[in-house]
Amino acid sequence: MVEVLAVASGKGGTGKTTATLALGMGLAEEYDVTVVDTDTGMANLLFHAGLADVPVTLQDLLVGEGDHPVSEAVYHRFGMDIVPCGTSLEAFRDADPSRLQDVIATLAERTDVLLLDSPATLGSRDAVLPIVIADRIVLVVQPTIPAITDGLKVQEYATAYGTDVAGLVFNKVHDPEEVSHITDRAGEYVSGPVLGAVPMDEAAREARKAGTPLLAHAPDSPAGSAFASIASALDIEAADPDRVADRFRNAVIPDAP
Ligand SMILES: Nc1ncnc2c1ncn2[C@@H]1O[C@H](COP(=O)(O)OP(=O)(O)OP(=O)(O)O)[C@@H](O)[C@H]1O
Ligand SMILES: [Mg+2]
Repeated sequence: MVEVLAVASGKGGTGKTTATLALGMGLAEEYDVTVVDTDTGMANLLFHAGLADVPVTLQDLLVGEGDHPVSEAVYHRFGMDIVPCGTSLEAFRDADPSRLQDVIATLAERTDVLLLDSPATLGSRDAVLPIVIADRIVLVVQPTIPAITDGLKVQEYATAYGTDVAGLVFNKVHDPEEVSHITDRAGEYVSGPVLGAVPMDEAAREARKAGTPLLAHAPDSPAGSAFASIASALDIEAADPDRVADRFRNAVIPDAP
């Protein structure tokens, strides 16, 4: 069984990478989880997960003549498999994005849940790829109207390509009151449930500085426990891995909108 979830937002800095690792660790209590940094242009999951110095990353799988097997870029950390992406601009330029589909297809054959940390915007073919090939997206937005509006654009794009919405996570919440008001409104427009609200919490920034995912660094912090309960509320809808892998290999990725 496998389900592929893209963690997306529509805006930068909303907490996608933090959420990807937190949901990954939460889901890893029940499932075999693989997390991939598909934000190949602005990769930074490696810094959140203490993998800045690893020898092989996703970038190495996307350049050259397939010199590295996919397994060489997979690191077992914090109870899950993590595929970080390097930050070399030269390698990014030389990368063949179509190969990312093959990498994801290969990873889908060997895991239960594949979480794709996605780029903030839909500005390029590389950027839309995770959203187009995922089964569902998890939207991570701040509880403001402009942020939700951008999240809804991502939702519209995703659903146009047959990707469903698993739900919406409000992150960096200052005031729970404000969220309950916005949640009522958002519920009318978002195609999935509001999964939860994660407070603004210094522990998240400290975890990032320490290079340790929030649920390892401060699991009992307000933000850590909010992400943990969101992960446990996420129902995984598993599909047949062979069919999924086939779908990824053959997906036609559109040019950006
Ligand atoms: N709940 C929170 N409270 C406080 N700080 C947070 C919270 N969630 C994330 N952050 C911090 O906000 C910053 C951005 O988070 P993160 O890198 O996860 O966002 P992103 O959406 O992946 O960004 P990008 O669009 O650049 O990929 C980081 O310093 C992170 O530690
Ligand atoms: Mg990120």
